[in-house]
Amino acid sequence: MCSIIGYYGDSAAAPILVKGLKRMEYRGYDSVGVATKSDNDIVVKKGVGKVEVVNNALHLDNLPGHVGIGHTRWATHGNVTDVNAHPHPSSSGKIAIVHNGIIENYEELKSDLEKRGYSFKSQTDSEVIANLLQYNYDQTHDVKQSMIKTVSKLKGHYAFVAMFESGILSAARFHEPLIIGIGKKGFFLSSDVLGFIEKTDDAIYLDNGELVILDRIGVQIFDFEGNAVKHQVTKVSKEFADAYKGDYAHFTIKEISEQPETIIQAGEKSSDAINTATEFIRHARSIYITGSGTSYNAALVAKYLWQKYAKIKVEPIISSELSFTPETIEPNSILIAISQSGESADVLEAVKIAKKANAKILSIVNILTSSLAQESAVVIGMGCGPEIGVAATKSFTAQLSIIYKIAKKLCDGCINMDGEKISSSVAKVLADHSKIKEIAKELKDVQDIYILGRAVHYPIATESALKLKELSYIHAEGIPGGELKHGPLALMDSSVYVVIINPNDFTYNDTLTSAREIKARGAKIIGISDKPSDIYDHWIQIPTIDDSLYPLIEIIPIQLLSYYSAIEKNTDPDYPRNLAKSVTVK
Ligand code: AGP
Repeated sequence: MCSIIGYYGDSAAAPILVKGLKRMEYRGYDSVGVATKSDNDIVVKKGVGKVEVVNNALHLDNLPGHVGIGHTRWATHGNVTDVNAHPHPSSSGKIAIVHNGIIENYEELKSDLEKRGYSFKSQTDSEVIANLLQYNYDQTHDVKQSMIKTVSKLKGHYAFVAMFESGILSAARFHEPLIIGIGKKGFFLSSDVLGFIEKTDDAIYLDNGELVILDRIGVQIFDFEGNAVKHQVTKVSKEFADAYKGDYAHFTIKEISEQPETIIQAGEKSSDAINTATEFIRHARSIYITGSGTSYNAALVAKYLWQKYAKIKVEPIISSELSFTPETIEPNSILIAISQSGESADVLEAVKIAKKANAKILSIVNILTSSLAQESAVVIGMGCGPEIGVAATKSFTAQLSIIYKIAKKLCDGCINMDGEKISSSVAKVLADHSKIKEIAKELKDVQDIYILGRAVHYPIATESALKLKELSYIHAEGIPGGELKHGPLALMDSSVYVVIINPNDFTYNDTLTSAREIKARGAKIIGISDKPSDIYDHWIQIPTIDDSLYPLIEIIPIQLLSYYSAIEKNTDPDYPRNLAKSVTVK
């Protein structure tokens, strides 16, 4: 989603802002812009496209001045155009803002401001912040008062940074992330620590309902009523500094390759939280588990595993669906929320609904400073390091690993979680990409891929379909094996490829029967299994492992296949079109 950045200090602002925006590219965006305060004016440059392309064309990093704001926009209100890109100046041009989030009452505010003589150029909801702030500043001539009056009128969720003609920066946070970086030569405001990590690892995480003023005095933080607020400076984990591609061509392949380590590390620093969560789960009357996209697929795996091995029933809920069926949540139950970013608006909304029913919130989250972590009674850290590729890979297997660790505790050790064995099995799949690269070449022009799996392998099939869609833009669908005859078989012909997730466990024979039925209709079969079969047109071998652990291994070849299909199709695997890493709007 949108990323915002601000700089106030002694160095030239524009190059710092552009670099910060580049570091946050993974969050997803379609246009970019920067505004700085020069001697007398606020100057704005913005355009549609990647940071590098727009910067080459407009020389964003050449703008003058030591104070500035920058933004990458992921369109919600209004098309992807230069005019709709941020920063947005007020109609007098004396204030400019960058915004992440949605202003729900912008139409009402806009018509009121238009009546007062303020004009608008864009179709965005964000521009209303610039003019509302300008109106309040025109009334009060005071930065703090104008910010307080402005936030009191805004409905929705937002983080915004405003640059005043005087060169003062001010920002507000309400249900969207905003972090202050404290550098030696200046201060930063950013959606993400990656925006300033090259300059400083000292940060202040603003809470919801707080605003900040950066000026010659330094950093002043207030609540929305104007009361001063004190914050500790946090040392940002050095691991964020590792968010480089290194020798890898893309973050996605780097992150796929890290899994022999990240699967083992998952939850290691949260063993107390895992113990507490296990006790809550053991004694709860009703347990729900929620997430979006990949994190929801992990939730489905939890349902199968905990039921099979610990006889514990848990109801998976797609986070974005809960607001339509809030009555699902029984009072005093447990909601387990899974989220890599901890900022998905749908997940946060589900948590809000569950809290209304007095549910206890347990979370499995990668970003420990996220909104979800703050909302949770128990937080289990995924600990897999920054995941930059928009397609979730190592975070999925880290989520699974934690779900397995909980399952093992719930069933008093009945699952053999041999870390070394799991890690070496994943490493074996990753050792040789040549066969997968060959198959990816064949998939280049394929329109439809189906992925079949039974029982716990079905959520792996849905996750596989999600990876193929995101990375290769090929239509893909996960199907529970037994459902084939109830409809999807009608689609099978020689133009179709079907991936069969078929480890040698209790699902093997039934899934092989499904593969035969598909093969008889002419479709090509890619078998993912530790056992060869002449039914497979392509066999991707996975190592044999304890029956319960196959899901941790079988997803790896599909992540690779999706990645190499993207390479074959010449799409950008790190930043799939139209998608964002953390989806902070509903
Ligand atoms: C995964 O590849 C996707 N990019 C997406 O489905 C993602 O898993 C979803 O948006 C949830 O994100 P979260 O885990 O950060 O909440």
